[in-house]
Amino acid sequence: MALDKAKIYADSPGKKNVIHFNNAGASLMPRPVLDAQIAHLKLETSIGGYEAMADRASQIDAVYASVAKLINADPSEIAIVENATVGWAMAFYAIDFKAGDRILTVEAEYVSNYIAYLHMAREKGVSIEVIPSGEDGNIRLDILEDMIDEKVKLISATHVPTNSGLVNAVAEIGKIAKKHNILFLVDACQSVGQMPIDVDAINCDMLTATSRKYLRGPRGVGFLYVRKSVIPQLHPPIVDLTSATCKSETEYELRPDAKRFENWESNYASKLGLGTAIDYALNIGIENIQVRINVLANYLREKLTEIGQINLHTISNNQCGIITFSIKGHAATDIVNALRERHINTSLSEPNSTLLDATKNNLPNLIRASVHYYNDENEVDIFIKTLKELI
Ligand SMILES: Cc1ncc(COP(=O)(O)O)c(C=O)c1O
Repeated sequence: MALDKAKIYADSPGKKNVIHFNNAGASLMPRPVLDAQIAHLKLETSIGGYEAMADRASQIDAVYASVAKLINADPSEIAIVENATVGWAMAFYAIDFKAGDRILTVEAEYVSNYIAYLHMAREKGVSIEVIPSGEDGNIRLDILEDMIDEKVKLISATHVPTNSGLVNAVAEIGKIAKKHNILFLVDACQSVGQMPIDVDAINCDMLTATSRKYLRGPRGVGFLYVRKSVIPQLHPPIVDLTSATCKSETEYELRPDAKRFENWESNYASKLGLGTAIDYALNIGIENIQVRINVLANYLREKLTEIGQINLHTISNNQCGIITFSIKGHAATDIVNALRERHINTSLSEPNSTLLDATKNNLPNLIRASVHYYNDENEVDIFIKTLKELI
């Protein structure tokens, strides 16, 4: 279905100021998302924060339903937290790792997750093993099968890494995890909002995402999904009076649902902004969003390829809206800054954000241009023209 471009552009006031190709960093929020947050902040200012929360209880509840609808889950399987890192850590550190347990992960794993594996290796003596990718950049599922034994406690994979545009085959990994009854954690931070996500199709037990990237929501909020059947075996690393009830001087009881991964204080304006952003995206249709992103990303890749000095750093031909490249003879930082001065937003992608993959592929600092459905071909043309002037 064709997108209603006039409405989308009218809802995106930031388009008047900048060409925003930093959607993998933080997208431009659409006006309804801003309005929802301002309305709640005004309510807090006029009647009090706790009272505003009570008055908006049903709208706040509805945010859980929106997240659940977005990823085909049940609202009781959703925790809304400060960001994707908190959501991911609450799930990861809730797993009862023992010395000798094995964690299997992927080459393009987000480095914060990898640091947490190293931390768990230091604290509990688990081992970390990386499922290799083939020449084509895709995960070697046959090798993954061979790596499985009873010591594998967790398979943990980033769906779309912060750079390179790669879309990892998480549903294929999930099939293997399910077959062997192994916990499967997916970092969907860069994929939620730019492509359909269905936790049942992926067969994951836990999945995390943030609001500000492809969902076009506010900063400082994210979510964690945990499958209903898995919740009872996960004891969060931090507990409080929201996640648990104190039963006696010596006992507490955890909540039975995913809110056991939350804590009491929350930014309700951001939470409502997240709900509005998800409803906005669902209204456009995630499939429609994905189609438009792919059209624009292919157009941008094609135009970049026509410029001789540019080296596109892509892994696999399973690509999305994130494009990373370097330019012969030019530091990526200089280009990102020069573009910014010309009101074109990209970002710098440093090798240590996906260290294993960057080391294997000898990646330098990269320029990351990440497109969204509200961008257009005209913006790509201006971007390309500006780049040519700069190099
Ligand atoms: C793949 C991936 N996972 C996790 C994160 C962390 O998200 P947050 O900053 O919301 O904690 C990022 C942020 O860039 C990311 O790219």
